[in-house]
Amino acid sequence: MKIIVTDQSGEIHELEGLEGWRVMEVIRDWGLDIKAECGGALSCATCHCYVDGDWLDVVGAPSDEEEDMLDSVGDVRPNSRLSCQILCSEALDGLEVTLAPSAA
Ligand code: FES
Repeated sequence: MKIIVTDQSGEIHELEGLEGWRVMEVIRDWGLDIKAECGGALSCATCHCYVDGDWLDVVGAPSDEEEDMLDSVGDVRPNSRLSCQILCSEALDGLEVTLAPSAA
């Protein structure tokens, strides 16, 4: 599956993701600017991204725990998600996200 990621400088990257991986892991392993300090334990919010286009409906809303964590960053938008909480799947092939400033 492919993930289209716009980084903080506006550059667009087409990444190959494996089913079952977290979107954060794909972005990190491809070397983009994402801290992901807690490694996906839902305790840092430094994997913050914006879900672009119509993908938010497919990805779904954040859990209460994820929302609480998003409240700790200043650049939240209605389409904010923590990328460690999005699992790669065929249904998300072509997913478009933009890395938030708070992820760097
Ligand atoms: Fe820490 Fe996602 S990597 S909350």
